[in-house]
Amino acid sequence: MPPDATQPTLAVESLVTHFPIRNSFGLRIGWLRALDGVTLDVAAGEVLGVVGESGCGKSTLGKTLCGIHPASGGRIVFQGEDATNAGSAQARQLRRELQYCYQDPSASLDPNWTIGRSLAEPLVVHTSLSRAERTERVQAALEDVGLPREHLSLYPHEISGGQQRRVGLARILMLQPSLVVLDEPTAGLDLSVQARVLRLLMDLRERHALSYIFISHDLSVIRLICHRVAVMYLGRVVELGTAEEVFRRPSHPYTAALLAALPVVGGGRISERFRLEGEPPSPGRLPGGCRFRLRCPRAASHCAQQEPELAPTPGGQRVACHFPLTE
Ligand SMILES: Nc1ncnc2c1ncn2[C@@H]1O[C@H](COP(=O)(O)OP(=O)(O)OP(=O)(O)O)[C@@H](O)[C@H]1O
Ligand SMILES: [Mg+2]
Repeated sequence: MPPDATQPTLAVESLVTHFPIRNSFGLRIGWLRALDGVTLDVAAGEVLGVVGESGCGKSTLGKTLCGIHPASGGRIVFQGEDATNAGSAQARQLRRELQYCYQDPSASLDPNWTIGRSLAEPLVVHTSLSRAERTERVQAALEDVGLPREHLSLYPHEISGGQQRRVGLARILMLQPSLVVLDEPTAGLDLSVQARVLRLLMDLRERHALSYIFISHDLSVIRLICHRVAVMYLGRVVELGTAEEVFRRPSHPYTAALLAALPVVGGGRISERFRLEGEPPSPGRLPGGCRFRLRCPRAASHCAQQEPELAPTPGGQRVACHFPLTE
């Protein structure tokens, strides 16, 4: 099912999430700008990839969208409704429709609960289904992710990493969401299990008409399964475009540098032009102007003066750079 761009399920405008930085006495001495003005949208049925170095704010984005962290600013519009820091009645409904699938699958499973109890718990909290109806839904979800019924009585440590991911997915499907944030859904799995989890994800998307925000360090997987890609750097989206265009003709020097590490079929690399040197600055102490300028081979004096906004390119991408790559 191709995505329907005429129906944005989610529109995010200038989303900000700041965490307090405290000294040893617990006094706030500054703000860590984990998300610092993220703008993006997701169409119905779309898979939007989110990439960027460790610490750039990918998980914080997913958690803020799903209400796990409160937004410090900006707007989240979900299915036409303002969902930014939604109040309790609205939040309950949104929590069901917008689900976050944890980076660490065991984090969402209580080690002292059986799989069956972990799966039924969201139904107890969010619905008024009877015990029999809950059991029926739990069994259907388990079947949906390809696990046998016997797993219901097992504990998380008694199943494999790949099976834990499946249980994590089943738990999310219980509430019949329409958009799921998948945070590193294949990290730490061996290649054959990764392939099975990816197939399952694509299958579930078709069967349940889901949209995904797919966070991953694995650029080959992103290229394979995402319709569009958002590239994040230090709390901002610096490039947004179709996976095909972004991988073929990256516009932001940071994207080009990220892709430089990606091997291509037939040997060689996508781009030999840039190498990422050093570490990104701390999100607690960002430089003025463009936040990538200290590592950018194209940086000029203008880049120190003004932060670039996400703007359309002739190639159809959106890029936040004063001097984007043009070929
Ligand atoms: N609950 C929190 N309290 C304070 N700071 C936080 C919190 N969660 C994340 N951060 C900080 O926000 C920044 C972004 O973190 P985040 O986990 O979103 O990065 P990420 O892109 O998901 O990284 P990774 O690829 O390693 O998972 C980091 O500097 C991190 O230390
Ligand atoms: Mg993360």
